[in-house]
Amino acid sequence: MKQRIWRLGLSSVSVATAAVCGYLILPDGKGPTPARAETNAVTFPPLEQLEHYTTVRRGVTREHMLTSRAALDAIKASQPVPTGTHVVLVDYQSDVLHRYLVSEKMGDGPEDWQYQWFWPDRSIKGDENTARCYSCHQSRQDRQFMFTFTDALSFK
Ligand code: HEC
Repeated sequence: MKQRIWRLGLSSVSVATAAVCGYLILPDGKGPTPARAETNAVTFPPLEQLEHYTTVRRGVTREHMLTSRAALDAIKASQPVPTGTHVVLVDYQSDVLHRYLVSEKMGDGPEDWQYQWFWPDRSIKGDENTARCYSCHQSRQDRQFMFTFTDALSFK
């Protein structure tokens, strides 16, 4: 019992440390490519409420793609997904959970997507430049910023 309490304490300390580090990196704009440690508005998704609509496999990588039933219905109806929609890539490496890549629809505009990388303990990856996520996904502008749009469309 004692050991369990100690472990819980430790994990909340590391979450707090990650949060503090995120803030420390934010004001750094000196280098040519400023660290964009994104403590942005993306929230950790409600995984248990989401549908697993497809899986992508590549070598030791297995990616489970998740989104809400409301988003899947909107895609089928050729409508924009609702504001607040999360799309999640749950990344397993050799069957071990590695990270969650998350996009969230922040507003009604078709471009209102934001991106975040969460570790298995749900802390954010402080040194990730999420503008890179955005610019790559922007190439899928006509498919709601989604690479697996067709899979979402055909999911029952
Ligand atoms: C160079 C292009 C590129 C970058 C950068 C990129 N992605 Fe993706 N993303 C993809 C591709 C391609 C897929 C489809 C799955 C696959 O092929 O592995 C994908 C899939 C996803 C999905 C599942 C929904 C979908 O679009 O199919 C999410 C969520 C996601 N990425 C989030 C992120 C986040 C968060 C970041 C930044 C930390 C990021 N991506 C950076 C190319 C990119």
